Amino acid sequence: MKRIAILGAGGHGKVAADIASLCGYSEIVFLDDNDAVKNCGPYPVIGKNAIANSLGCDLFVAIGNPMVRRNLMEKLESVVTLIHPNAVIAKNVTIGNGVIVMAGAVINPGTSIGEGVIINTCSSVDHDCEIGNYVHVAVGAHIAGSVRIEDSTWIGAGATISNNVNICENSVIGAGAVVVKDIWRPGVYIGIPAREKRKDMHTESISFGRS
Ligand SMILES: CC(C)(COP(=O)(O)OP(=O)(O)OC[C@H]1O[C@@H](n2cnc3c(N)ncnc32)[C@H](O)[C@@H]1OP(=O)(O)O)[C@@H](O)C(=O)NCCC(=O)NCCS
Repeated sequence: MKRIAILGAGGHGKVAADIASLCGYSEIVFLDDNDAVKNCGPYPVIGKNAIANSLGCDLFVAIGNPMVRRNLMEKLESVVTLIHPNAVIAKNVTIGNGVIVMAGAVINPGTSIGEGVIINTCSSVDHDCEIGNYVHVAVGAHIAGSVRIEDSTWIGAGATISNNVNICENSVIGAGAVVVKDIWRPGVYIGIPAREKRKDMHTESISFGRS
C-alpha cells in the first residue's frame, strides 16, 4: 500500500492530495501545525509537522510560502514529487525533489525545474528554461522559452514571462503581469509591461496564500 503524509492542510494540500491519489497513493494523511484543522477534504489531519519523519512514509510539503516550504523540506527525509497524469512533460526535462506539477501544465524540452517548485494548474514552462528552487508558477501563468527564474520567486496567476528573460530570486510577479525585461532587484512587479510596484501602493504584507 502506498502511503503519503502531506504537510499543510489548506487548499494547496487539497489539490496535492487529489494528485497523490491519482498517482496511486491509497492512504493519504495530513499534518498541520494548526490544532483547529482536523481534516483536509476527506483526509484526516493526524498531527503536527514535527512528526513527519517518524511516520516512515512518503512526504510532500503543500505550503505556498517558499520560505516555510524550504524550511520544512530541508528537515524531511523522504520527500516525493507529484505529477498529475494529465500534465505534459517533455522527455528532456529534469525535475527536482518535492515538486508538484498540476493538471494541464506543460513543460517543454531542455527545461530544468529545481526542488520544491509548484507548477500550478494549466501553467506552462517552455523550452530551455531554468526554474530555481521553491519557485511557484501560479495557475495559468506562461513562461516562454529560455527564461531563467531564480529561487523562491512567485509568478502570479495568468502572468506571462517573455522569452530570454531573467528574473532574480525572491521576487513576486503580480497576477496578469507581462514581464518583457530582466528583473535584477527583488521586489513586486505588476502590470503590462511589468514595472516595480511603488512602496506607497503597498498596503499590507504580501500573503503567498496556500495555493
Ligand atoms: C501583486 C500583488 C502581490 C500585490 O499585493 P499587495 O501588495 O497586497 O497589493 P494590494 O492588493 O494592496 O494593491 C495595491 C495596489 O496595486 C494594485 N494591484 C495589485 N495587484 C495588481 C496586479 N496583479 N496587477 C495590477 N495592479 C495590481 C491594486 O489594484 C492597488 O491599486 P490602487 O492602490 O490603485 O487601488 C497581488 O495583488 C497579486 O497579484 N498576487 C498574485 C495572486 C496570485 O497570482 N495568486 C495565485 C494563486 S495560485
